Parts: sequence; structure tokens; C-alpha cells
Amino acid sequence: MEQAASDIVFQSYGRCCNSEQFFVDFYGRFMGTSDEIRALFAETDMKQQRHLLRNGIMQLVLHARGMPDTKLRALGESHSRRGYGIRPQWYSLWLQALLDTIREHDPEFDSRVESSWREAIGPGIEVIRNAY
Ligand code: HEM
Repeated sequence: MEQAASDIVFQSYGRCCNSEQFFVDFYGRFMGTSDEIRALFAETDMKQQRHLLRNGIMQLVLHARGMPDTKLRALGESHSRRGYGIRPQWYSLWLQALLDTIREHDPEFDSRVESSWREAIGPGIEVIRNAY
């Protein structure tokens, strides 16, 4: 039987999480996309932020495996115009930076792994984005 997208993603994420450098590279890339995005993290403790993101991506992965979206809704609230004011159009830049970082860090990365990530975490990202 063909492996489910959420299983492929779960394993790919495990390979990426082997090194803290994955999260260093993600933020380097994401902040490099625009001065506006870099400015959002000007006051942020990036060491702590990397740990929070590790957990946040895990929430997206678990949502794809059937977990309720309670934690994603809370992230939606903190990122919304009532919180950090993260504009909906920025999420595609976030996803692109994530996929580029996975491509660099997952030795088993291929087009199937990439499409599995898009398919698995797309709905969870929408939960956060739609809370704007
Ligand atoms: C904070 C995850 C997208 C900017 C956080 C936190 C998590 C997280 C777990 C810390 C918990 C919290 O404050 O609620 C995610 C996930 C995303 C996403 C999973 C993808 C769906 C974005 C995007 C931006 C962004 C697109 C900017 C364009 C921020 C900022 C903070 C934050 C500015 C607060 C940093 C601080 O405390 O100084 N994010 N995020 N996030 N995120 Fe996101």
C-alpha cells in the first residue's frame, strides 16, 4: 500500500529535527525574504523562538494525523490582527522558506516528500491564516 502523506511528512520532519541548524537556517531564509519580515523578529529571543517553532510545526504535522485544531486556533489568534498582525499573504513565503529548508536538510527529499508536506500541512496553515 502507498504510504500516506502524513507518514512521509512525520518521517521527513524527524530527519530535519536531528539538528538545531534546521531552525537556524529556516529563520535565516525566512527573514531574508523581506525587511518587513525581518523587522517582526527584531526584538525576539531567537533561541527560544526556534524551540517554539519546532513545536508549532509539530502541531501542523499532528493536525494532519487527526489531532483537533485547538492549538492551531490559539496560534491563529496570536498571529491575527489582534496579535502580531501577520498578513495572510505572508504565509506563502513562510511555506516556501520551510520547503526550501527541508530540501536542504532532509537527505531523502524528493518531489513526493515535497508534495506530501504541501498536502499535509496546508490545511493547518489555513486554520492559522484564516484567523487573521
Ligand atoms: C510566534 C508558529 C507563521 C511571525 C510564533 C510562535 C509559534 C509560531 C509556535 C510562538 C507562540 C506564539 O507566540 O503564539 C508559526 C507557524 C506558522 C507561523 C506554525 C505557520 C503557519 C508566521 C508568519 C510570520 C510569523 C508567516 C510572519 C510573517 C511570528 C512572530 C512571532 C511568532 C512575529 C512572535 C515573536 C516574538 O515573540 O517576538 N509563531 N508561525 N509567524 N510568529 Fe509565527
